[in-house]
Amino acid sequence: MRAVDLIQKKRDGLELSSEEIKWLIEGYVAGTVPDYQMSALAMAIYFKGMSTREISDLTMNMVASGDQIDLSAIPGIKVDKHSTGGVGDKVTLILAPLVASFEVPVAKMSGRGLGHTGGTLDKLESIKGYQIEVTQEDFIKQVQETGVAVIGQSDNLVKADKLLYALRDVTATVDIIPLIASSVMSKKIAAGADAILLDVTVGEGAFMKTVEEARVLAQTMVDLGKAVGRKTVAVLTNMSQPVGTSIGNRLEILEALEILQGKGREDVTEFICELAQIMLGLADVEKTVAEVRQHIENGAALKKFEEMVQAQGGDLEDLYRPANVSHKVDVLAERDGYIVGLPALEFGLFAMKLGAGRAVKTDELDYETGIVFHKKVGDAVEKDQPIATIYANENISENMLTNFQKNVKIDDVSVNTKEIIEIIS
Ligand code: URA
Repeated sequence: MRAVDLIQKKRDGLELSSEEIKWLIEGYVAGTVPDYQMSALAMAIYFKGMSTREISDLTMNMVASGDQIDLSAIPGIKVDKHSTGGVGDKVTLILAPLVASFEVPVAKMSGRGLGHTGGTLDKLESIKGYQIEVTQEDFIKQVQETGVAVIGQSDNLVKADKLLYALRDVTATVDIIPLIASSVMSKKIAAGADAILLDVTVGEGAFMKTVEEARVLAQTMVDLGKAVGRKTVAVLTNMSQPVGTSIGNRLEILEALEILQGKGREDVTEFICELAQIMLGLADVEKTVAEVRQHIENGAALKKFEEMVQAQGGDLEDLYRPANVSHKVDVLAERDGYIVGLPALEFGLFAMKLGAGRAVKTDELDYETGIVFHKKVGDAVEKDQPIATIYANENISENMLTNFQKNVKIDDVSVNTKEIIEIIS
């Protein structure tokens, strides 16, 4: 076989056979299919798409490109969760211990942030001492003993995705449904959980800009999961504004702690309890949202989170330390009215420029910087009331401040928002 013929085949809108996909993935991981041919293929997939059978072959060959985790030593139904990426998305930090507080084991591998999106690993690494590199043995032992672990993905898991994702990132081929679906599901399948909750983000701050696109991605991933015997549910969630009230690594840890202490914003707390209810249902534990919420109110979820942090070497005193920055700048409302828009993409990029995110993979992070919003979409504001505080380790220029203010949309009439748009199972 020759890669050039397979690229041409896809370019011309034809289906690649199972053998051809296997050959391409094996060759790519072995280095015999070079980056430039793989990127041409990814672009051909962007224009011509892939059939259900092709996506399934791609996913399973990606799974086979690395190790697969065997979680069978952990008793019970193991549940996992994945978000397709967002701004201020600290959901895993609360959801994982909350679900584990119901004795449902959560063995989760998370990723890093890139561009305007944040990554759970970076947030956890802002806690002094927290280890994200854990051997498979210790990972399983921690879940057996503590009920929850959130670690970094081992280098040997889905090697094809590591290579392909880095390539897609620099060749404008990230936002392609067959490639996102195979990337996400290959990692989830290889990570070994019995059941998977997929948080498919929709809106301006997400890869999927419309509900229609997100629905196709969600259904594709749910079908891939079910085809290999994993109970899979996808939830389409709103990413038109940042999740919760903060963007930035330490700031999001602090917000997660507030939510776990029952002191978070009502809408985000309710949203996470709803996700927990679905995740528990996947493990055959039927609870009402109110019952789930009790584990926030009685401190059980917070205790689980602290246990996880401690088990992974994190310093519990440092955990509660406020963000340490040289500049805190309030952004004030320009007029009376209601907040009708806080574009997630714009604020994600703003936080990235403060050092909270990476423009390229090799960028160093400033864990302390970011944004705290005092108002969210739907809230009333009065002129000169603080809408947000910028946490920075550099001067915030007038230009940056004007740019921030310009992105806060205020109108006379309020709008409704909802976090969960649709559930696909
Ligand atoms: N998240 C992933 O893991 N892979 C993608 O391709 C996009 C989002």
